[in-house]
Amino acid sequence: MDSILVRGGNKLNGVIPISGAKNATLPLMIASLLTSEELILENVPHLADVESLVRILTNHGVDYQVKGKRKNHNGQQGRNIHFKASEIVDTTAPYDLVSKMRASFWVIGPLLARMHKAKVSLPGGCAIGTRPVDMFIESLEAFGAKINIENGYAIASAEGGLVGAEFNFSKVSVGATHVALMAATLAKGKTVLSNCAREPEVVDLANCLIAMGAKIEGAGTSVITINGVEALHGARHRVLPDRIETGTYAMAVAMTGGDVFLQGAQASLLQNALDVLVKAGVGIEEKNDGIRVTRNGAGIKPVDITTEPFPGFPTDLQAQFMALMTIAEGDSKIKETIFENRFMHVQELARLGANITLDGQTATVHGPTRLTGATVMATDLRASVSLVMAGLAGEGETTVTRVYHLDRGFEHLEQKLSACGADIQRLSS
Ligand code: UD1
Repeated sequence: MDSILVRGGNKLNGVIPISGAKNATLPLMIASLLTSEELILENVPHLADVESLVRILTNHGVDYQVKGKRKNHNGQQGRNIHFKASEIVDTTAPYDLVSKMRASFWVIGPLLARMHKAKVSLPGGCAIGTRPVDMFIESLEAFGAKINIENGYAIASAEGGLVGAEFNFSKVSVGATHVALMAATLAKGKTVLSNCAREPEVVDLANCLIAMGAKIEGAGTSVITINGVEALHGARHRVLPDRIETGTYAMAVAMTGGDVFLQGAQASLLQNALDVLVKAGVGIEEKNDGIRVTRNGAGIKPVDITTEPFPGFPTDLQAQFMALMTIAEGDSKIKETIFENRFMHVQELARLGANITLDGQTATVHGPTRLTGATVMATDLRASVSLVMAGLAGEGETTVTRVYHLDRGFEHLEQKLSACGADIQRLSS
C-alpha cells in the first residue's frame, strides 16, 4: 500500500491547475447509459473513482475510449473520454463492483428509465456515516417503479416505463437528486422534484442532459421540472472545475503561507468557503481564469463554521478547514450537519499536535497549536488530504498511510504540490 511522505515547513508558491470535478464526472458518466448515441466528456480527471465507475459501465455494455490528453483553454490537461451505450447488455450492477464506490448505485435511475428494469447491489457501509438509499427508492417508486430489496440487491422494474410524478425529497441529497433527475428525463409526462440539491454538480448534470435533448428547468434551485422525452441523443460536455480541490489547495496555502494561483478555478462554485477564508485573514483574489490565494506573514484568525448543503459551507471541506483552524490564533467551532460520523480525522490530527474537543456533532479546535510530524492514517478521502496539509505546515516528517483514499479524488496531488515548493513524495510498497 502506498504512503505519502511530507517534510513540513515550505511555503507554497506557484500555479496549481484545477482538475475537472470528480463529483460532476461520476453522474455525467452514468448519464451515458440513457442514450444509444455517443456522450463525449471533456476534462475528465484521472482518478481511482473514475476507473471504478468505468468497470461498472463497461459491465452494462458501455464502450469507452480515451481519446488522449487535450490541453484546454487554460493550458491544463484533461482527458476527453467517449462513452457509447449502443446496447445495454446487462442490467445488473454486482456487489463486487458497487461496493468499491457508493455512487455506482446511481446507475439504478438510468437503467430503469431506459431498460425498465435494474438489479443493483446496495452499496453497503461507509466510513463517514450510514448513508441510506431510502430517497432513491422512494423517488423511483413515485415514478411507478416496483422495487424489492432481496439478497443485498435493489431489484427494480417498471413495466411500460417510468411515469413522471411530483416528488419532494425529505432531506437534501445530491445523489438522490442526480438519480431522480436522470430517471425523469425519459419518464412519460411531467415531473416536479422539490427540495432538490442545488450543488453546482447537479447543474452540470442538468446542462449535459439538456445538451442530450432533455427538457429540464430549474436546476440549481430547489424545484426542478422535467418534461420527459422519448429518447436522448449524443452530446459533448466539458466537466466543471473541482470546487473541493480548489478549496483544499486554498486552505493548504492558508496553512503554509505563500502565493498560489489556482488556475481554472471558479470562485462562484465555493463562495461561502472563500468568504470564510477571507474572514480567517487569507488573501483571495478572483481573476478571469482562476483564483489567487495569498498569506504572507499575518496569522490565521479563528472562524466558526457549520457544514450545509450548497450554497453553504461544504462537508467535503470540513476536515481541511479543521486542519487550518489548528494553527488559528484562538478557538473555533466546527459543526457537521451532513454526515454523523465525519470526525475521524480528529484523532489523526491530534497525533500531529492538534488540540480538538468533540461534543456530538460539534468540534472545538483550540488554536494555535504547534504541529509536529508523525505517522498518521488516512480514514476517508477528504480526511486524508487534511493530514497532508497538516504535515506541510508542521515541523519534521509526516507519513500518511492508506493513500488509496486520496487517489480516489485528488489528481496528481504530489506533483501539483511539489511544483509549488512542497517537499512531498509517494512511497510505494
Ligand atoms: C455527495 C458527494 C459527497 C458529498 C455529499 C454531500 C458525490 C459522488 N459525492 O454524496 O462527496 O460529501 O454529496 O455534499 O457527489 N441521505 C438519506 N437518504 C438517501 C440519500 C441520502 O438519508 O436516500 C442522507 C445522507 O445519509 C446524508 C445526506 O442525505 O446524511 C446527504 O447525502 P447526499 O447528498 O446524498 O450525499 P451523496 O450524494 O452520497
